[in-house]
Amino acid sequence: MGSVRCSSFVKINAAAATLLLSLHLLLSSPTAAIDDEETIISRFQAYLRINTSHPSPNYREAADFLVDQARSIGLWYQTVEFAEGKLRQYLEAVRRLKASRFQPLRSIYISFVPDEEIGGNDGAALFVNSTLFSNMNVGIALDEGMANPGETYRPFYGERSPWWLVINATGEPGHGSGLYDNSAAENLQKSLEAMRRFRASQFDLVKSGNRSEGEVVSVNLAFLKAGTPTPTGFVMNTQPSEALAGFDIRVPPTADPDSLDRRIEEEWAPTSRNMTSWFELKVPVRDKFGRPMATRTDGSDPWWTMLEEAVTQAGEKLGRPEIFPASTDARYFREQGVPAIGFSPMANTPILLHDHNEFLNRQVYLRGIDVYEKIIKAYASYAEHTSY
Ligand SMILES: *[C@@H]1O[C@H](CO)[C@@H](O)[C@H](O)[C@H]1NC(C)=O
Ligand SMILES: *[C@@H]1O[C@H](CO)[C@@H](O)[C@H](O)[C@H]1NC(C)=O
Ligand SMILES: *[C@@H]1O[C@H](CO)[C@@H](O)[C@H](O)[C@H]1NC(C)=O
Ligand SMILES: *[C@@H]1O[C@H](CO)[C@@H](O)[C@H](O)[C@H]1NC(C)=O
Ligand SMILES: *[C@@H]1O[C@H](CO)[C@@H](O)[C@H](O)[C@H]1NC(C)=O
Repeated sequence: MGSVRCSSFVKINAAAATLLLSLHLLLSSPTAAIDDEETIISRFQAYLRINTSHPSPNYREAADFLVDQARSIGLWYQTVEFAEGKLRQYLEAVRRLKASRFQPLRSIYISFVPDEEIGGNDGAALFVNSTLFSNMNVGIALDEGMANPGETYRPFYGERSPWWLVINATGEPGHGSGLYDNSAAENLQKSLEAMRRFRASQFDLVKSGNRSEGEVVSVNLAFLKAGTPTPTGFVMNTQPSEALAGFDIRVPPTADPDSLDRRIEEEWAPTSRNMTSWFELKVPVRDKFGRPMATRTDGSDPWWTMLEEAVTQAGEKLGRPEIFPASTDARYFREQGVPAIGFSPMANTPILLHDHNEFLNRQVYLRGIDVYEKIIKAYASYAEHTSY
């Protein structure tokens, strides 16, 4: 069980679990007995009972629990000050594989890292940057996906990168009654109009059913700022010399980030219109080798084929591969060029991320363990070298 250095205890509820498979030989150690369903469910319940609510979350107990579990099935682990995985199913699946005396060709690492919900800067981002991680030589990573009220599992092969853009328009200030060219507000309005057209063209692709929402660039206005405030509102007879607008842009890995950069420079915030722009946040759309951060999901990718086969073997179905609508830790692995699939074996389950009384039916939980067992077995038996 590989894990991460972290300087302090952190959120447990929202932490992410990732499964990593790499190319080293795992030494087999003592096997555990095969457990019945009640035992498996009780272990999950015991884990859920650990109170990790704020303001005084009991992270130590949760961490100790996971370490105990790892130890009880003879897993090597590296400690850490760390957190949950809502997918304790990885551990249960590995427990079963050990019980069946399965001999993997690859190492299986289960990492529990904190902070996924708040960007992962002190979690997965640090982890993928460590020599611990590079020495693992990871071939494939599995990260969280999403529940599905329908019957299939939803696999995610990429996610949209947030670009938070601010544009700043300047122009001659003037009296509110004056008509003249190139005021800050006029310059900004030209940008807003161009951006609105672009947004509509992307949205049309979704409306026509040609693209899913995750596959288009979304551009949404986050703020507008201009004018001279007074205690009760704004000065009404002045045209301001500066006008700012902020946008939340989400860029799918299938888009060309260079052409979007050009569009911003030439159409949305051109210096010819006395405008400047900057990013409050700009998550890369390409990996460190300059390739789109999307994991292949066709016959050309052995990891994808194995995943499909394992799920089918378990008597379940995978849905169409999708772009995750928000952010997960998988992007940190993809950024390193490691293929990563976001995947939670939770079918017939409402999407209750972060909701009150989020629940998981016991049969769905147990089914998920079967599915992971098949996937991990297939992945860990794959002998061929894959390089990224
Ligand atoms: C869990 O801990 C929080 C404080 O961190 C407390 O408010 C809450 O009542 C506890 N819940 C249970 C079920 O003990
Ligand atoms: C990762 O490592 C590089 C080079 O050592 C460093 O510049 C960067 O800040 C590190 N990133 C994180 C998130 O620690
Ligand atoms: C907007 O641009 C003008 C002109 O370059 C500059 O003086 C002003 O500080 C900028 N505003 C912000 C919020 O950066
Ligand atoms: C949708 O895609 C089809 C096939 O690629 C194309 O013929 C059609 O014009 C597209 N429709 C829109 C609205 O883009
Ligand atoms: C840009 O600013 C310069 C200097 O203030 C001004 O002469 C010019 O008209 C402005 N152009 C536009 C398009 O706002």
